[in-house]
Amino acid sequence: MERELALELVRVTELAALASSPWMGRGDKNSADGAATEAMRSMFDSVSIRGTVVIGEGEMDEAPMLYIGEQVGSMQGPEVDVAVDPLEGTEIVAKGLNNALAVLAVAPKGQLLHAPDMYMEKLAVGPALAGKLSLRDSIRTTIEKAALALAKPIPDLTVMILDRPRHADTIAELREAGVRIKFLSDGDVAGAMAPSFAETGIDLYVGSGGAPEGVLAAAALKCLGGEIQGRLMPENEEQHQRCLSMGITDPRKILYVDDMVGTGDVIFAATGVTPGEFLGGVRYLPDQRAETHSMVMRAKTRTIRYVKSLHYLPNKPLLRK
Ligand code: FBP
Repeated sequence: MERELALELVRVTELAALASSPWMGRGDKNSADGAATEAMRSMFDSVSIRGTVVIGEGEMDEAPMLYIGEQVGSMQGPEVDVAVDPLEGTEIVAKGLNNALAVLAVAPKGQLLHAPDMYMEKLAVGPALAGKLSLRDSIRTTIEKAALALAKPIPDLTVMILDRPRHADTIAELREAGVRIKFLSDGDVAGAMAPSFAETGIDLYVGSGGAPEGVLAAAALKCLGGEIQGRLMPENEEQHQRCLSMGITDPRKILYVDDMVGTGDVIFAATGVTPGEFLGGVRYLPDQRAETHSMVMRAKTRTIRYVKSLHYLPNKPLLRK
């Protein structure tokens, strides 16, 4: 994949963020998501790829745009797999909370796991803990290993987890171990990425979230030098069969970054919709301008590029008024 593609892709997440941010705090997550999806879809037309959506807004019959299998891009350029979440954290935007992102990942065709829409158990860390922990271990062992590897006392460790009743046992184990917990209301792509940014103060991300979000996080962590391990959680026979039909023969096996995004290159782009742990949100400025904060990274070089843009809104024809 050409490196110029990275900047073309960040324009796609920028537009999705700009389209969804007017819905911030309006209690309408579907409109926020719809606006982001429509904007992202239209911006893809100008990107020099022959892309197939492998992680998107749903199956063809449930999503009007960016559905799984949809072809996106200018249809010139490399053949690639595309994973998108035009609005990661729909509820966050609806409630005006932090950490909503517009995200996408692109990799050479055949590389991205076609993750089924079900929960995935996750363990994500930054570069300092990559390769040092295992999802097979108990929470207590994981915490002990992390403390040792980081040379930090256990009470100084901070663990992030989605605030969900299904995590009650894990939270009890974390409390028992004595770590600090930072709860996340939604948006576990940002959660899984957080330990890779020292300024967040977060050492580990644990708990279950969406499997598609797991693949997007794996793309980001491959570029960041961190790690995510995931294990699908089929909850019934139908979900189990879905895993099999997608070529995942052992749904309970641990998936490592390369299992989710392949061994080759991958580009990850994200723009903040609301302020987050490592990216600012959309800010409206005088003179019809809006500021966006994005990051775009490539696994091959591991350069992390931050892009701050000042958009002049009247010149954004693809933004629905
Ligand atoms: P949406 O943006 O699709 O609403 O997803 C938000 C999210 O928090 C994801 O980041 C996470 O993976 C998933 O929902 C967790 O699901 P649940 O809300 O069922 O715990």
